[in-house]
Amino acid sequence: SMRAEVKKLVATAADPGSRKAFEKEMKSFLSMYDRYLDEQSRHGQLDWSQIDTPSKEHVIPYDNLPQIHDPKILNKLAILKVNGGLGTSMGMSGAKSALEVKDGQTFLDLTIHQVSHLNATHCTDVPLLLMTSFNTHSDTLRIIKRHTSSRVRIVTFNQSRYPRVLSDTGLLLPQHADDEDRAKWYPPGHGDVYCALAQSGVLDQLVKEGREYLFVSNSDNLGAVADLSILQHMVDTQTEFIMEVTNKTKADMTGGTLIEYDNSLRLLEIVQVPPEYVEDFKSVSTFQIFNTNNLWINLKALKRIMDKGGMDLDIIVDPKVTDDGQSVIQLETAAGAAIKHFDHTLAIKVPRTRFLPVKNCSDLLLIMSDLYSLQNGQLVRNKARMFETMPVITLGDRFKKIQDFQKRFKKIPNILELDHLSVAGDVYFGRNVTLKGTVIVVANDGQRIDIPDGCTLENRLISGNFTM
Ligand code: UTP
Repeated sequence: SMRAEVKKLVATAADPGSRKAFEKEMKSFLSMYDRYLDEQSRHGQLDWSQIDTPSKEHVIPYDNLPQIHDPKILNKLAILKVNGGLGTSMGMSGAKSALEVKDGQTFLDLTIHQVSHLNATHCTDVPLLLMTSFNTHSDTLRIIKRHTSSRVRIVTFNQSRYPRVLSDTGLLLPQHADDEDRAKWYPPGHGDVYCALAQSGVLDQLVKEGREYLFVSNSDNLGAVADLSILQHMVDTQTEFIMEVTNKTKADMTGGTLIEYDNSLRLLEIVQVPPEYVEDFKSVSTFQIFNTNNLWINLKALKRIMDKGGMDLDIIVDPKVTDDGQSVIQLETAAGAAIKHFDHTLAIKVPRTRFLPVKNCSDLLLIMSDLYSLQNGQLVRNKARMFETMPVITLGDRFKKIQDFQKRFKKIPNILELDHLSVAGDVYFGRNVTLKGTVIVVANDGQRIDIPDGCTLENRLISGNFTM
């Protein structure tokens, strides 16, 4: 049984000091695993007929929020970035937030600028908390070292490390507690943030310092700047938990949505949806909004909940294949799922600009390009672009991994006037390339296309043997 497996693993911990911590960690892993088995045997927990879209009173349009705020409320705020993930879909083996996005600055550098600008503007001392995992800790420390003289107090704390489970046998992948092979372990999702805050002592510290509000967001979302209107609304209405949602587009079909169930707001993730309703879930008309993972949390309420034994967040099963071809599962939780455990909750429908994540190399290309510039760590849209919408970019498989992306673009092309870019096959871009209108580049099997330095392509379809 899993219990015996875990016991065996704990016994391999060499150092008695670290064994205690490891044992505790494995205990919470085991309780999540038990919960997973239990849920599996009950086949789906949600009664689909009871699911409603959230009522109007529970989804406030951002534009209706107060325009006047008292900057003193910032003295009660702390900002947190969940920063334990790798960006595996982009083939990264280090922290995604350590990727350079603009002017040689990484996501983390830019976040630190944003917070230090906030502090300088309002003469405050809002701390920045970074949740790291065993996968991202050293990358994170390396970057924050560069900012020792900035106006931001940075606090890091670690999330858990759980063993991956082999799908076929139900056995644990790591055989030894001190196994350093990162591929055998995983961080159990950003929903781990609540336990990690409580267990690290950071939650108590924040409350002791008089911090009452916590703004949580993804470390690759540069649009998630602390917003005084949202904070003021939270203070005025004594809301315990706010989720920022935004309109769903075709690109976000699989993002978690907010529902009303049993008279309360809940997060609904695609993996919780019975197969026969997945199309409904994806539809932009039935579920119009999705969770940006920008969350505002009342810290006293969080402490109350954690002191009472914490939250059993909905489990998300994430099947993966290791580099050597073994099928494993990871059990994870999502931070937004906590909404159902709080008393007074709300969603605020924010403009898309507050959700600018980098999920793949096409997203990265947009952000790195001349479509955006930097202002106090924030991405600002280039006003010189004539259209409201951003270009649609489809990069083929050979651009999927970050190393390949970096190799194939000597420099990011100028795309201010681009509408649509589609690239397939073995294609390389030179320096100072400009792309306009619709550009399609297709290299067939066995061919390689090099877009030369300095060239401009406007409404061009390029395939086969390409010469300028
Ligand atoms: P996700 O893992 O949900 O999405 O991370 P992603 O960024 O697309 O990553 P991949 O490509 O699927 O791997 C969203 C945010 O949650 C953090 C990440 O660092 C990111 O900021 N996160 C994720 C954690 O802090 N811990 C985790 O265990 C997982």
